[in-house]
Amino acid sequence: MSGGAGYIGSHTVIRLVAAGHDVVVVDSFANSKPAVVGRIESLIGGELEVHAFDLTDKDKTEHLLASMPFDAVIHFAGLKAVGESVEQPLEYYENNLESTFSLVRAMRRHGCGLLVFSSSATVYGPDAPLPYREDYEPLVATNPYGRTKVMIEHVLRDVAHIDESFKVALLRYFNPVGAHPSGTIGEDPQGIPNNLLPFVAQVAVGRREKLAVFGGDYPTADGTCERDYIHVEDLAAGHVAALTALAASPERVRTWNLGTGTPTSVLEVIAAFERASGRPIPYEIVGRRAGDLAQTWADASRAADELGWRATKSIDDMCADAWRWQSQNPLGYPDA
Ligand code: UFG
Repeated sequence: MSGGAGYIGSHTVIRLVAAGHDVVVVDSFANSKPAVVGRIESLIGGELEVHAFDLTDKDKTEHLLASMPFDAVIHFAGLKAVGESVEQPLEYYENNLESTFSLVRAMRRHGCGLLVFSSSATVYGPDAPLPYREDYEPLVATNPYGRTKVMIEHVLRDVAHIDESFKVALLRYFNPVGAHPSGTIGEDPQGIPNNLLPFVAQVAVGRREKLAVFGGDYPTADGTCERDYIHVEDLAAGHVAALTALAASPERVRTWNLGTGTPTSVLEVIAAFERASGRPIPYEIVGRRAGDLAQTWADASRAADELGWRATKSIDDMCADAWRWQSQNPLGYPDA
């Protein structure tokens, strides 16, 4: 697994081990802390093999894939901040694309033919009808981060097209939130959080004074944006289901939305977090954030039909688990 020390990766390691898989993690720790590894090991009750390098290092990637037989790779690693990608487009294209090229080349050379890729709902772009369905084309993202996801989807499809021994699952995540119910692992953004849930959690725990709600005049029921928030535990379970289905799949490219199919507004999230934490979340409605869409949510029926997987956790569960993580780890993972 690449990016196994990250937010979604760490939760997925635990699910995979519980399902009987042997997991090896590669992580550059560019955007994650080594302390997560010990937390994962406590939860799985054993040691986790972790290799600290960046997949853009072709030699190290090659060497690892040559060192033992891998049945499959789940590829989480990548830069993921939308705003930063606008400021640093070359870094985003270079890192996200080159790491994928390096990984796929090494996989093919060493006979590993199953790849599960972390794509995003952002590939549907601003014009796709709601709810988003996997068969929508063309994929058009509106920022460099999203474009790396669109490009990588195309690259992987093209490789699967010419290589009979290579199959790929493209998993389009909606808005992952929440944390492991133990409260020991969770989302640990560096600096000021870009995303809603970590920001709200930091307001609740007293690290930030108040939340800026970006826009109160959208054409939605309460005027704030609506998103399809999905518990990271449900998302992790979706990866295990997708891996199993891909291994058995006669088709070489499979695409699944991983969402709940239910939109929730920013004000509804705030109310849910206040219930979960028992604390008020002061907020102020400010201007819209550039690039935000009024509403996005998944048609989650394909994953339900084909994977037998569906999200089970409510927005209250997501906030309760996010709060447990945040209140037990107000500053995130320790540095050492
Ligand atoms: N929001 C606020 N205040 C904040 C942060 C967010 O009001 O401080 C609002 C946003 O305007 C938006 C909603 O909360 O309406 C959710 O925002 P996030 O930043 O949490 O999530 P996005 O839907 O914007 O972004 C997510 C992923 C991206 C992905 C994008 C599109 O984080 O990786 O969906 O699929 F690109």
